[in-house]
Amino acid sequence: MENPDFLLRKNWVISYLEWKLKFIDMELSTEYNRTVTQKVESRIKSAESITRKLQRKGCEVTFDKALEKCSDIVGIRVVCLYSDDVYKIADLLKQQKDLELIKEKDYIKNPKKSGYQSLHLIVEVPFTYKRTVEKQRAEIQIRTVAMDFWAGVDNQICYKKREEEVKRAEGELKQYSDVIAQMDKQMLELRKKVEKIRSFTG
Ligand code: GTP
Ligand code: MG
Repeated sequence: MENPDFLLRKNWVISYLEWKLKFIDMELSTEYNRTVTQKVESRIKSAESITRKLQRKGCEVTFDKALEKCSDIVGIRVVCLYSDDVYKIADLLKQQKDLELIKEKDYIKNPKKSGYQSLHLIVEVPFTYKRTVEKQRAEIQIRTVAMDFWAGVDNQICYKKREEEVKRAEGELKQYSDVIAQMDKQMLELRKKVEKIRSFTG
């Protein structure tokens, strides 16, 4: 993973997708006259984390297996205020001609057992390098600030941890996931209410 060509490819995918997301944000922010994207974060999965994932899946730990089995070596996270914005961003991403949707996992409509909510798109983009075109894969997670807050707490205290006390905390955290889903719904309704009043008053 220390291979410079490997990092070059992965950094290229990050720059490319961040650039696309910037233009998508400009398009949406202009159309709706408000800031849509709150933040975009990107990371390249560490060698240790890739190794753990391959071992968990019962695969050989090799460079080729990592590329085959880990769709999230490049991970991009897009955070917005409202749940409908998640789908607006996803729709515009899906319309990009040079971006192929490999898989979509909607953990907002169908939250994970843990309570985790987010929309995941696994995508491929064509990368031209040394006169050949190769497909580069990335996982794009799109979610609201509230979902991101929940996932951040879960990541620190529960996710992929097995101790007994953690099991109890998981039950409580699951309840907060429902609170957050409710809050997201109310915030969206509130925004729509204000938009309606504004459209009448000009
Ligand atoms: P990973 O091996 O964790 O990448 O999972 P996966 O390849 O089986 O895919 P999945 O869709 O389950 O998860 C992809 C990513 O979503 C994870 O790497 C996490 O970033 C995030 N995620 C999934 N489930 C949870 C969860 O319960 N809590 C938190 N905090 N994040 C989660
Ligand atoms: Mg992952």
